[in-house]
Amino acid sequence: MGLKRKDLLTLKELQKEEIELILDTAVSFKEVGSRDIKKVPTLRGKTLVNLFYEPSTRTRTSFELAAKRLSADVINISNSGSSAVKGESLLDTAKNIEAMNADMIVLRHASSGAPYILARHLKSSIINAGDGAHEHPTQGLIDLFTIREKLGKIEGVKVAIVGDITHSRVARSNIAGLTKLGAEVRVVGPPTMIPREIESSGVTVFHDLKKGISGVDVVLMLRLQLERQGKGLFPSIREYSEVYGLNKEKLKWAGPNALVMHPGPVNRDVEVSSEIADGLSSVILEQVSNGIAIRMAVIFLLSGGSPSS
Ligand code: CP
Repeated sequence: MGLKRKDLLTLKELQKEEIELILDTAVSFKEVGSRDIKKVPTLRGKTLVNLFYEPSTRTRTSFELAAKRLSADVINISNSGSSAVKGESLLDTAKNIEAMNADMIVLRHASSGAPYILARHLKSSIINAGDGAHEHPTQGLIDLFTIREKLGKIEGVKVAIVGDITHSRVARSNIAGLTKLGAEVRVVGPPTMIPREIESSGVTVFHDLKKGISGVDVVLMLRLQLERQGKGLFPSIREYSEVYGLNKEKLKWAGPNALVMHPGPVNRDVEVSSEIADGLSSVILEQVSNGIAIRMAVIFLLSGGSPSS
């Protein structure tokens, strides 16, 4: 059985079985990355276009590597280098890319919902690589994969997501995926950064970091989304860091051997101290490595592949 959908726009609409299929498929693709020749012929002749209207290091690069490891052709288009600067709409740009027979378009955009517009109007598969504050489904999948790989399971695992929940697409995708797979999810942050309706998504809210991370198995720290925030959510970055930043002393409040995760880019000594980011508890770079396997799995499955093929 493969994925019976054209697009990947959100983890909220995926069934638990679909998420597990992607995670299981990524396990076999991870092995490809450790070979001398990191390439399989699976998607020879297919074309993937990375269409990024916002900056990215990890997501854009790993989609490109993932597609190349599957032998697909890859084109990268950024906002500043495209005809968007001459006023062309997103949809017109995407229709022109499709006219060149692109099989798959990976879109990052500042507007929540932008990938849905393309998915509705185009035959090409659309993958959401982060839309405004809405979702970042492949990052959510990476984080699920990393937790499962490190702890052997997701069901029953206690995960605290700390920081700017309101503006975080990573938080939204993680909450959707983790709750579906049976994790116990807490969100921790100042009241100004936690949406009021969040408890209806199955999480528990904490405003106190010590209580919020007490005994958890995973502390997932979020980047302050300064580019999406209005003014006045907290007095200063220094004060935010003192109250909600993670350092060696505060990590002792979490469970023994708790994992520290962060989707990147990390603001060192704001969300996490350098000794934590570079320390033994951190799996931040493993998340990045796992990004290629997850994106290979997503590209493969959306192209009609199935694990038995
Ligand atoms: N995690 C993530 O989305 O990183 P980039 O912005 O570098 O792609």
